[in-house]
Amino acid sequence: MARRAPDRRDISFGAGPPARRRASGRTTAVAGDARDCKARRVKREGDAMDITQLILDDHHEQRRLFAILEQIDREDEEKLTAVWSHLAAFLEVHAKAEEDFFYPELLRTGQGAGGKATSEDETEDAIGDHNEIRDAVAAVAGHTVGTNGWYAAVAHANEVNSDHMGEEERQGLTDFRLHASLELRHDLAAAFIAFEASHISGVRAQDVDPKVYIAENK
Ligand SMILES: [Fe+2]
Ligand SMILES: [Fe+2]
Repeated sequence: MARRAPDRRDISFGAGPPARRRASGRTTAVAGDARDCKARRVKREGDAMDITQLILDDHHEQRRLFAILEQIDREDEEKLTAVWSHLAAFLEVHAKAEEDFFYPELLRTGQGAGGKATSEDETEDAIGDHNEIRDAVAAVAGHTVGTNGWYAAVAHANEVNSDHMGEEERQGLTDFRLHASLELRHDLAAAFIAFEASHISGVRAQDVDPKVYIAENK
């Protein structure tokens, strides 16, 4: 029987360099764990994950959940509370996962895109936006579910999150697709989804100083 010719799309991902260490002494997790997993072998491009796609998928889910909130009967406090609680936790976990796994590597790999001259500019803008989203999410808790004030607070969270997602998609995600290797995008995707899966109920909201963040993660 004739042996199959090698598929030109076959790629093998090695363990990669060791995880970088932040100024604070903590590892960035670039997938330190993922890269250490020598048993995993990605054989074809079609098998690879991509952190930029996972982030886009999360953005779609966030837009979907905000739209669902607009369609639930405003008298149904139980359903509104359930969906908002899930969305609020999701927004926090998503931002934290980006800060732990995506932006440190964007700082090192990116070259600027979408109107931003450098990856530092992209990152500073994004980390500041994350703080604004955290504040908007926290403000919702100050209103009784289903009231006009509550809807206005949710709408504000939707607006600041939408503005941020649009910029992130045009800037950081585009930059990373242009300049990061498939291997890195795959390894980060595995770390990103594992973090989200293990923090499904949320993380503690904590603002981050953009300049300190950049200094610690460059
Ligand atoms: Fe995002
Ligand atoms: Fe973000």
